[in-house]
Order: sequence, then structure tokens, then C-alpha cells
Amino acid sequence: MSELVDLPTPVAHARPATERGLVDRHGRVATDLRVSLTDRCNLRCSYCMPPEGLEWLPGEDVLTDDEVVRLVTIAAEHLGVREVRFTGGEPLVRRGLVDIVDRVHRAAPGLELSLTTNALGLARTATALAAAGLTRVNVSLDSVRPESYAALTRRDRLHDALAGIEAAAAAGLSPVKINAVLLRGVNDAEAPELVRWALGAGHELRFIEQMPLDAQHGWSRDTMVTADEILASLEAAFDVRPDDEERGSAPAERFVVDAGDGLRGRVGVIASVTRPFCGDCDRVRLTADGQVRNCLFARGESDLRGALRDGAADATIADLWRTAMWPKAPGHGIDDPAFLQPARPMSAIGG
Ligand code: 5AD
Ligand code: SF4
Repeated sequence: MSELVDLPTPVAHARPATERGLVDRHGRVATDLRVSLTDRCNLRCSYCMPPEGLEWLPGEDVLTDDEVVRLVTIAAEHLGVREVRFTGGEPLVRRGLVDIVDRVHRAAPGLELSLTTNALGLARTATALAAAGLTRVNVSLDSVRPESYAALTRRDRLHDALAGIEAAAAAGLSPVKINAVLLRGVNDAEAPELVRWALGAGHELRFIEQMPLDAQHGWSRDTMVTADEILASLEAAFDVRPDDEERGSAPAERFVVDAGDGLRGRVGVIASVTRPFCGDCDRVRLTADGQVRNCLFARGESDLRGALRDGAADATIADLWRTAMWPKAPGHGIDDPAFLQPARPMSAIGG
């Protein structure tokens, strides 16, 4: 039937059938896949979730281990994906995590596999994760003061997080990258302290500007701590120089910080809001319930789970995925007065 329909095709916008990778209409190619394994979390970071948590996805909607492994394998074999990062919510609360990593690693040994986690419980699983083929972890840690950590996450678990980070480094999941979000009036005075701690422990710290992705819609441009403010507070405490290394599609601007007493190393600042890097974006996201999101801030998503459960072939799923990627917006548009926050919060999308 379809060949009889004579609709004008917007040629410039049609996805080229010859393109095998995850290309969008602006010429970007996604090779870095973020897979959310659950929308649940054992913390309640105030920039992410309300104290009571959220209404979690129904269990039957969440992709099974087999389905995750199949989709990731399709991404590697058909779509040119080279790197997979498992996220959440909190991926460590997903029971099958080690097994998923192991199976993905065996199915697609060329993939680089990493994890974004709050590190609670990582002390128990770091060694098994490394043995299963995980190579790196990014840990979300906004403070090394027990009171600030508890105020931010609404849980008194700093000790567990630090134990998890140490275990990850000891298991060779290194360099451990630490992601810190600064909130005005809560931990915004702690940037130098975080830097000293990270440099001392040999971890790579990156500050991330807070983005409008919280479930409560409490973000405001006026209260956000900007990259410039973060840099100013580091410069007031340390000798800070731009790092010469090529940035590529990495979102972090890197600096070499000399904190004295032999403490010297790299610190990154991710200015997602004030200096967006959307033009170099090489990411694509898969939610825990099997929806492709071509951008964190996308207003729409494309269902792969339905096709998967209807028995679609790998090639068909790969093609749905390419189609989902093509209309990716040029940028997040946070500064546009018409900006609308995505309906799903960060915890249900995956960092
Ligand atoms: N803005 C910036 N970063 C956020 N994260 C979670 N919510 C936000 C937000 N609104 C961070 C977490 C984690 C990573 C996945 O994203 O701290 O490090
Ligand atoms: Fe959990 Fe991460 Fe959200 Fe904090 S930011 S509540 S660790 S999902």
C-alpha cells in the first residue's frame, strides 16, 4: 500500500536509508548509549525527587534482563554504539545488574561498559562488577560533610557512599569520576573541600550545573549555581589553569588545579545550562521501560518495548531506533521562554 501514497517527501529532512548508525538531522552521530535499569532509588536528592519518592514504573513495564541485553546488543551490532552506561534511578538497586553487565559484555565484548551510581552498596558489588566486564563508575556525590550529604539526599548514608567509592577504586573501576551538583545555600560553599578530598583520593571530580529535571519542577535559573561561580570559588582557593587536552564531545571543561601540599590534578566543570554542548552530543537514552529518548530534554520518546514483545526482528528494532534518533532537537532550549521541562524526571530517564 505505502508505495501508492504520493505524499511530498521533505527530502532535506528524510533520514537517509543508507545511514547505518544513529544519525540525526543535524549530522550528529550517537555512539554513547545510556540505559536506565530502574527508576527507583534509595536516596531522595532534593534536586531530583520529593521526600516521599515517586510513583515507580509498574514491574511489567520495566524491561526484563533478557530484553535489556537484547536491545544493547542490537545497539552495538547494528547501530554503531560503542559505549554503554547503565544508570537509574539507582542501577545498584536492580537485582540483575551484575548478570546484565556480564551478559552484555559477553554478547558485545567491544563495548565499553560503565555505571552511574550513588555508590550505596557498591562496596558489596564492585569486585563482581569489575569481573563481569564493567570498566568505570561515575559516582554522584555532592558533599563529603555528613550533615550536608544528609540534607541533600535526605538520607544519612555518606559513610556507605564513601565505602562504595573506595571499593570501586580498589576493584580497578578507575579513575572513579565523581559528579557533584551544588545547590545554593546548601553545599555551594563546599567546592574547594570537595576538590581537596577528590584530589587526595585520586578521583576525578566534575561539577555539574543543576538542570531543570527534578520531579517537583523546583528548578530556577536564578538560584542555580553557575559554572562561572563554581570556577570563581575554585580560583579563590587554588591555582586553577585550563587543561590543554582536547575536549572532543566530552561535556566537561577541564582544569588543572593545584591545591598546594602536592595536591594537584584535574577537575571538570559541566556547564550544561550556561554553556550547552548540544552541538557535540553523541548520546542516546533508553528508559527502564524501553523507550528511546534522543535527548534528556526530549518532549517525546519512541517505544521499542512494544516491538520487542511483539516479536520484531533485530533489524526492525534497529530501524525503529534510527527513526527515533533522526528528529533530535538541535539543543535543549532551556533559555528559550517557551522551554518546557520533559514530563519524565531525571530519575526515570537516566543520566
Ligand atoms: N541537574 C544536574 N544533574 C543532575 N543529576 C540528577 N539530577 C540532576 C539535575 N537536575 C545528576 C546526578 C548524577 C547524574 C546522573 O546526574 O547527581 O550524578
Ligand atoms: Fe537517586 Fe540519583 Fe535522583 Fe539522587 S539524583 S535521588 S541518587 S536518582
